[in-house]
Amino acid sequence: MREALITGASSGIGAVFARKLAQRGYDLVLVARRRERLEALTRELEEKHSIGAEALAADLARDDDLARVEERIRSAGTLELLVNNAGFGTRGWFHEADLEPHDRMHRLHVLATLRLTHAAVQGMTARGRGGIVNVSSVAGFVQTPGSTSYVATKAWMISFTEGLHLELKATGSPVKVQALCPGFTYSEFHDVVGMDRKRIPQAWWMKAEEVVDASLRGLEGGKLTVVPGWRYRLLVLLLGLLPRALLHAGSIKYAARYRGQGAE
Ligand SMILES: NC(=O)c1ccc[n+]([C@@H]2O[C@H](COP(=O)([O-])OP(=O)(O)OC[C@H]3O[C@@H](n4cnc5c(N)ncnc54)[C@H](OP(=O)(O)O)[C@@H]3O)[C@@H](O)[C@H]2O)c1
Repeated sequence: MREALITGASSGIGAVFARKLAQRGYDLVLVARRRERLEALTRELEEKHSIGAEALAADLARDDDLARVEERIRSAGTLELLVNNAGFGTRGWFHEADLEPHDRMHRLHVLATLRLTHAAVQGMTARGRGGIVNVSSVAGFVQTPGSTSYVATKAWMISFTEGLHLELKATGSPVKVQALCPGFTYSEFHDVVGMDRKRIPQAWWMKAEEVVDASLRGLEGGKLTVVPGWRYRLLVLLLGLLPRALLHAGSIKYAARYRGQGAE
């Protein structure tokens, strides 16, 4: 049986990863803080798809909980797919904010991704198979005021994944890694951050199912960076072409208008 571990599986994109991978016959280890949500999902997927599913409640911003999840990966030695998806956003200017959510965000987006990837990739390279999806964001391609830590940590995820990809290719490993970079996606993310979805035109919203389908298609083809949706692919292309000074002028104007109310 193939085994996948998904962080942030209690809602949104992570829960959709769980459903899609269960349909494909993966045994699952689902990680998040809300145990009841995880247990309800594991029960549902075990019954529906005759797979094994484990609810592993953990706060990945805490050292002790993170160590338990690392240990789960290392000791089983069977993981075929790791999805580092747990994440959240913040609002407001960094220079006015409490440090705590920013510290927690770096622990979750950066340190948990680093440590869980390390726990998984060594076994995967030894076994000569496996894949890792790091859920970043289109926000990771350019800095925007009001989301400084979010963008910085998502940019780190893109860069880290790219570096790992190059190392795996250079050593001839078949293990695949992917930076998944969604744009605005319906999930609980914007409720948690307290952002009004109506601020963003409907055409820019995607379903979590579309995002996960694009990721799994990309993984089959060994694609390093997956940006779901043609609008976002075009946006990323333009962001790479436009002069930084022009982008900065635009984002300062936008941020001043919304008083640093956050990105996706
Ligand atoms: N929605 C978007 O527009 C969008 C766009 C680009 C990228 N993303 C990225 O997609 C990923 C998934 O977000 P989503 O949109 O699906 O939002 P979501 O519905 O709010 O899901 C976030 C998940 O992360 C988990 N989580 C948060 N803090 C955690 C912690 N300390 N330890 C363990 N788990 C934690 C949450 O579970 P618990 O609360 O139960 O712990 C939840 O399962 C995030 O990394 C986000 O940055 C989202």
